[in-house]
Amino acid sequence: MSRLEQRIQPELEQFIQQGTYKRLNFLDSPQGPRVRMEGRGEVILLSSNNYLGLSNEPSVVAAGKEALDRFGAGTASVRFICGTFTVHRALEAACARLVGTAASPSFVSAWNANEAVPGTLLTENDLIISDQLNHASIIDGIRLAKAITKCRTAVYQHGDLADLDARLAAASDRQVKMVVTDGVFSMEGAIAKLPDLIELCRKHEAVLVVDDSHATGVLGDHGRGTAEHFGVVGELDIITSTLGKALGGAAGGFVAASAAVCDYLTQRARPQLFSNALAPTVAASSLASIEFLEAHPERVARLRENAGYFRDQLLGLGFKPLPGQTPIIPVILGETSAAIQMSDLLLAEGVFVTGFGYPVVPQGQARVRCQISAAHSRDDLDQALAAFRKVGRQLRLI
Ligand SMILES: Cc1ncc(COP(=O)(O)O)c(C=O)c1O
Repeated sequence: MSRLEQRIQPELEQFIQQGTYKRLNFLDSPQGPRVRMEGRGEVILLSSNNYLGLSNEPSVVAAGKEALDRFGAGTASVRFICGTFTVHRALEAACARLVGTAASPSFVSAWNANEAVPGTLLTENDLIISDQLNHASIIDGIRLAKAITKCRTAVYQHGDLADLDARLAAASDRQVKMVVTDGVFSMEGAIAKLPDLIELCRKHEAVLVVDDSHATGVLGDHGRGTAEHFGVVGELDIITSTLGKALGGAAGGFVAASAAVCDYLTQRARPQLFSNALAPTVAASSLASIEFLEAHPERVARLRENAGYFRDQLLGLGFKPLPGQTPIIPVILGETSAAIQMSDLLLAEGVFVTGFGYPVVPQGQARVRCQISAAHSRDDLDQALAAFRKVGRQLRLI
């Protein structure tokens, strides 16, 4: 065993003893309200970001197949050399149109998009302030930006506008102040208070960056995201988002912003300059997803209805999910092992809901997180609720 393996092997064993070891489940069917899971058969999926059910939508799948024939499998190049295809241009125009900005360069993931923004745009004269519960990709993007640019960094208490105000006020020496928040916090389902954040950022002349990965296709009557939810489309400085959740469940991400910011990213963003562009098949499926969304706002309404129904029924059973308005519905259980146990028992009942523990969520706040899709039928949801009732009673939670 190498020295490295000697160090990590006992840790792996400890994960197993503590009941925190993650076992991968293998699917053998497309993402959908019900999936075929190896060794389990058909299970109801309440653990997917496929919020609109688009990952297996016929027009989305067909667009990927057509692109495969037209453009081939890969880009074989980074964007600025010869990896940009006409389908990238069409996709980027559609992303910008959807979220209401001038431009929107694509990235191979939202992780990459979040990494690109601070590291490319900030300098040692600047400050970036991040909500305490922001996604790991934002946190790591900031850590990287600090190492690369020597910018100053800070964290404000989750959703605490007074704390943010004070920190911005204390940073008047900074040339650029950048505030970054998730639009929808993925582990809580909470929505960032955008109107207040916009006002505060204007007061301090700060740039507001919103990661809308769990809001694009989900919030607002037309799925245009957190800005549409609050009626402030066009008022955000920078939006990052994923093409891998509501928008088709494929992969990829984008940064939507002014023409100048996007142009600068195209000139300088290292994750784009030194990594192959999004595969054309994926770009085409994502473009078809956006076109589907634009033509079918009723899918977003259906998602909202399903999420409201599931939340109300869970409450009726005696569970206490975190309050919220999004299709992310977490039930807090405390210890990581409790969340994993509940997830295992639900899976034995044919319902797949992932349990999350430390370090993904804070110590003592482990949870199972339900994610509802527009594709779930009432029957799917009722069957899942019956499993929750059985397991909830077994664990004396209700
Ligand atoms: C808030 C948030 N941002 C970014 C990402 C990363 O998205 P991608 O899978 O496109 O890298 C995720 C995915 O979990 C997320 O939840």
